Amino acid sequence: MNILVTGGAGFIGSHVADEYIRMGHHVTVVDDLSTGKKKNLNPKARFVKADIQSPGLSRVFKQGRFDVVNHHAAQIDVRCSVIDPGADARINILGLLNILELSRIYKVRKIIFSASGGTYYGECSQPARESDRPFPLSPYGVSKLASEYYLRAYESLHGLIFTVLRYGNVFGPRQDPHGEAGVVSIFSQKIMAKKGLIIFGDGCQQRDYVYVKDVAKANVLALREKKCNVYNIGMGRGVSVNQLFDALKKISGYKLDPIYQSLRAGELFRSCLNIGKAKKQLKWQPRYGFVDGLRETFEYIKNSK
Ligand SMILES: NC(=O)c1ccc[n+]([C@@H]2O[C@H](COP(=O)([O-])OP(=O)(O)OC[C@H]3O[C@@H](n4cnc5c(N)ncnc54)[C@H](O)[C@@H]3O)[C@@H](O)[C@H]2O)c1
Repeated sequence: MNILVTGGAGFIGSHVADEYIRMGHHVTVVDDLSTGKKKNLNPKARFVKADIQSPGLSRVFKQGRFDVVNHHAAQIDVRCSVIDPGADARINILGLLNILELSRIYKVRKIIFSASGGTYYGECSQPARESDRPFPLSPYGVSKLASEYYLRAYESLHGLIFTVLRYGNVFGPRQDPHGEAGVVSIFSQKIMAKKGLIIFGDGCQQRDYVYVKDVAKANVLALREKKCNVYNIGMGRGVSVNQLFDALKKISGYKLDPIYQSLRAGELFRSCLNIGKAKKQLKWQPRYGFVDGLRETFEYIKNSK
């Protein structure tokens, strides 16, 4: 297949591009390198440095004759979206609309969209299901959810098939500290530098961490979906900040205790995704244990110093 991966120089998009290329697909990457890095690019991918909002992207679509667009380019920082919601909306909503319009004009068959299970569902007493009412409280979460509604509109108006993958907190090699699961990268870097490490609150707050190679697999399976669907992609269980810290301590041999500081305003206590639908319908399930993924991530950070 001819596949366009937007954001393919970034953390998750580059793993998706690698996996597609490994399977023999032809991949074009569009990325403006605002947070992505050239060193993440697969050498077998065609790379176009461009903003997803740019009108010039039509040339890329015309030449590429893409069967599938895998859309990972985005403004991903929740705090930036609070400070400048307009910038977030321009990239995440207007950028998506440019991609959708070009997909319509150049007859792309389907689009795979990376959404945010971690920002939709609020406090989770049970692992959240796709059918639970989403209620994002940050402009970033709102722009991601609005994107899902645009996808529905394009399906209904123009027959563009979509698969939405609502990720938990993705972690793994190539991750920057600013992302949704940035804590893994922040902790690893502090540990490497033998610096003190801060935990906000009592460290019992839980997130659904999912390893990036498992996420890439979900993007592969999404290629064969013929109907529109929305899937949660996580581990299906919450891991606390204390558990994360303890696991990294064991992996690295770090000796210091964490410094506990007061909880940041608005932080959720528990975010966790029910992944039953992805298991049943997408035939996907996480293959990496949390600690295995953590070990690979820590090794990567250590070796890239
Ligand atoms: N990291 C997570 O835990 C997580 C969770 C849920 C959803 N997501 C989504 O997954 C996607 C990838 O996230 P990531 O963690 O890999 O972040 P990332 O910042 O590493 O990747 C985003 C990529 O998009 C590029 N980009 C940003 N704005 C662009 C623009 N206007 N034009 C072209 N390229 C642009 C960046 O340069 C970068 O390479 C995003 O859509 C994000 O919202 C991530």
